[in-house]
Amino acid sequence: MLHFQLSDEQQALQEEARRFAAKEIKPRAIELDEASRFPADIIKKAAEYGFCNLSIHEAYGGTGLGLVDSCLVVEEIAWGCAGVSTSLVANDLALTPIQIGGTEEQKQRFVKAIVEKHQLASFCLTEPGAGSDAAGISTRIEKDGDHYILNGSKQWITNGEYASQFTVFATIDKDLGHKGICCLAVPSDLPGISVGPHENKMGQRCSNTTPITFDSVRVPCDHLIGQEGEGFKIAMKTLDHSRPLTAIVAVGNARAAFEYARSYAVERKQFGRAIADFQAIQFMLADMATDIDAARLLTLRSAQLLDSGHRATLESSMAKRHAADIGMKVATDAVQIYGGNGYTKDYPVEKCMRDAKLLQIYEGTSQIQRIVIARELLKEMS
Ligand code: CAA
Repeated sequence: MLHFQLSDEQQALQEEARRFAAKEIKPRAIELDEASRFPADIIKKAAEYGFCNLSIHEAYGGTGLGLVDSCLVVEEIAWGCAGVSTSLVANDLALTPIQIGGTEEQKQRFVKAIVEKHQLASFCLTEPGAGSDAAGISTRIEKDGDHYILNGSKQWITNGEYASQFTVFATIDKDLGHKGICCLAVPSDLPGISVGPHENKMGQRCSNTTPITFDSVRVPCDHLIGQEGEGFKIAMKTLDHSRPLTAIVAVGNARAAFEYARSYAVERKQFGRAIADFQAIQFMLADMATDIDAARLLTLRSAQLLDSGHRATLESSMAKRHAADIGMKVATDAVQIYGGNGYTKDYPVEKCMRDAKLLQIYEGTSQIQRIVIARELLKEMS
């Protein structure tokens, strides 16, 4: 049944997350951005509120929310700061492959243990030579008795410097293409692992992003998640699940930009009137609010489909594509409404604009989302 009203419990959850973001995140967002500083204390506090590991099952120590409820929380966190929300949801992304493909014993060892100790984990798929082409990864494993020897490099790894465990995708035979890809849970303190420096990014600067190198790392074979060759499908299913959470980061960031622009439009006077009195500005605000609402609804639909056990590859990609693209437009229009002031660091909208850009790039670019959407649409015809 279709319904658009949040339950009393959902409204209470949303309000709690909003209060948390307003008190703990928003006042520090600019300072964290300028220093490119990881918000370790905020993440710790968020974990105490149950805002970390939102979609991880309660049986493994997570908050155990569905994706719809997780999205309600993440929108508020991203409204406070998109970079903080990216670091906060990185555990959901890294631990979901284990929830999808792991045995019960592995879920206890590689999900519950991490969550209960309030540790962080990172999803390691992307490489310097394989970004959009995820099946083209070169990081490799080779069997040696009861261990795999892991070699290769990963790039753009969220929380890389702070993670206690990496979910690594590596090929056992590159000639097999995606059918050679394997998924492994790799403790970050194994010998042979080195984490490179935090990237000096344009936006979402407080979320930690690093390269990671694996040099003959010996990983016990019982750290393999699923069967050899199942890694690619585990990664794709994980991305179906995580894209609504990324889409809602774009929605939260866009809502912040919209709210700043609306307040500014009411205060700022030109030609003897508030600029909000001019139709040109009113039309911009109307489009911004409409686009944000549409993105939120698409996102919650994909989350609801996943919560009810359906495959939502199409809907997740539609939500991510639309939310990321309108998020960029809304933030750019917010800067436009501020005029010259918006282009300076004295006002908060330039950060929203920089933060929005990354949403069109990570977890699959807007172009990759269009590929996924088109394939799903055309599949229906064959
Ligand atoms: N669910 C289940 N199975 C899936 C699937 C899905 N969503 N998508 C694909 N598959 C299966 C296919 O059915 C196919 O199976 P068979 O071999 O049995 O037929 C197999 O996987 C291969 O699929 P494709 O032929 O479609 O694979 P492809 O090589 O053409 O690539 C792609 C598809 C969609 C472009 C993929 O490469 C992709 O998603 N790229 C983007 C990668 C990405 O999003 N990276 C983000 C990294 S994470 C990050 O950024 C996080 C961060 O830290 C912030």
